[in-house]
Order: sequence, then structure tokens, then C-alpha cells
Amino acid sequence: MSGRVAHDDARPTTARGEERPAGHGAARAARTILCVMASPRGPAAISRQFAGQVLDRLQAGSPEAVVVTRDLAREPPPLVDAAFSAAIIGPPDPDHPALAGSEVLIRELEGADALVIATPMHNYTVPAVLKAWIDQIVRIHRTFTSTPAGKQGRLVDRPVYLVVASGGWFTRPSPVGTPAQPDFLTPYLAAALGTIGLRSLHLLALEGVTRGPEAQAVALAAATARLDALLPPT
Ligand SMILES: Cc1cc2nc3c(=O)[nH]c(=O)nc-3n(C[C@H](O)[C@H](O)[C@H](O)COP(=O)(O)O)c2cc1C
Repeated sequence: MSGRVAHDDARPTTARGEERPAGHGAARAARTILCVMASPRGPAAISRQFAGQVLDRLQAGSPEAVVVTRDLAREPPPLVDAAFSAAIIGPPDPDHPALAGSEVLIRELEGADALVIATPMHNYTVPAVLKAWIDQIVRIHRTFTSTPAGKQGRLVDRPVYLVVASGGWFTRPSPVGTPAQPDFLTPYLAAALGTIGLRSLHLLALEGVTRGPEAQAVALAAATARLDALLPPT
């Protein structure tokens, strides 16, 4: 399956760019928010810092909401090994010991009303730890079913706020006209999350953040404007 993230839509859209009815995808009533962070740079990470602003907005609309944090850099998910590979293609068994870690991550996701993913772009795509997380949560017979019509997601859709920090520009050319970089990050996440049923993706891009304080300020202003459109300040 394929998917796409709308880069600058003000209204909630699906990964395919279809409009949702008003209110859909807005996590104002989120009771649990899962924040998945992928930068190795800890509190210095721009993606992590901006995710804090997204969480503030979500919590302003839902003050009782609980935030569950999953720091993938501090606690990397295991890489797929032979036991995991055998377990997922064998008879469906959620209690299989090789799938225990995957079950923890899937239940964490299932328990969230909204998801915030904060990630750097690494070599045009997601950091390895985020790929490892995807490999744990996108699981046949568990989070998706394979049918003759294609893969069918088994999770209920919920809003996903995707915060991406990048040294250069990938949604458009740089301010001096350097062509946009290849982007294998946002189409990949849209496809992987769409496979399990999560289609309401909202991109918040912070581009050019390694190009000095001025470029960083411009990136922050653009991402804040986008956040204002998605989750207006209360
Ligand atoms: C291994 C590595 C690969 C990177 N690849 C890219 C890239 O492909 N495109 C880009 O624009 N920036 C790239 N960068 C720069 C980071 O995206 C940038 O430093 C970003 O701010 C990191 O996000 P963070 O502040 O949340 O950690 C790369 C950085 C590292 C360490």
C-alpha cells in the first residue's frame, strides 16, 4: 500500500489527502497521548523540543490527558531476529515469547487516543530506531490482516502528529533555491502506519535547522503556524 503526508494542509486529512469531517482527527478529547521520540540528542533535539509544544496544545484541550513517553534512542526496540521472524509467520499467537516486546509496544499504541512522533531525518528517511519500532508494531495477524484486496489495518484511526527535524529542506527547495532533498521518511511512515489503520497524519516539519539560528527561527515559526492551524491555541 502507499500513502502520502500532506505537507501544509490546515485541515485534518488522511494519509491520502482525503478530507475528514470537521472534528475528526482533532485530539481535543485525548485521554492518553503516546509520544514516540527517535532522536539520539536527548533534550537538545529540535524534534523533541517541538513535540513538547504539540503535547502542550493537546493537553490544553484535554487537561486530564496522560502522556506516555517512549524514548526509542534511550531504549531501542530489538532488531528483527530469526525467532521473531518465525513467530510472526507461524500460527497467530500473541503470547509467543518472541513477540512479548512487540505486544508491549502494540498495546501502548492501542491505548493511545493520539500519537506524537518526534524524529530527525537521517539520510532521507527515519532513524534506525524508528524503523525498529515500526517493525515491532506493524505485525501480520495482529495489527493488520492480509486480504486479496490488500493489507487491512486493525487499529482504530487516531490523529498522528509527525514532528520531523531536518538539517536541510525536503518539502520544498531551500531559501537559496537548492532543490528539495529526497524524502523517504514521510511516504514511508504514511504507508507503514496506514497499513495498521492510522491514516490521520499531520506533518509538522522543522527544516533547515542546522543552517544557523536564523534558519532555525524560520523553521520554528513555520512549524508553529502549522500547529496553530491544526490545534489552535485555546
Ligand atoms: C546520521 C545523520 C544523518 C542525517 N541525514 C540528514 C538528511 O538526510 N537530511 C537532512 O536534512 N538532515 C540530515 N541530518 C541532520 C538532522 O536531520 C538534523 O541535525 C536534525 O536537527 C536532527 O533532529 P533533532 O534535533 O531532533 O535530533 C542528519 C543527521 C545525522 C546525525
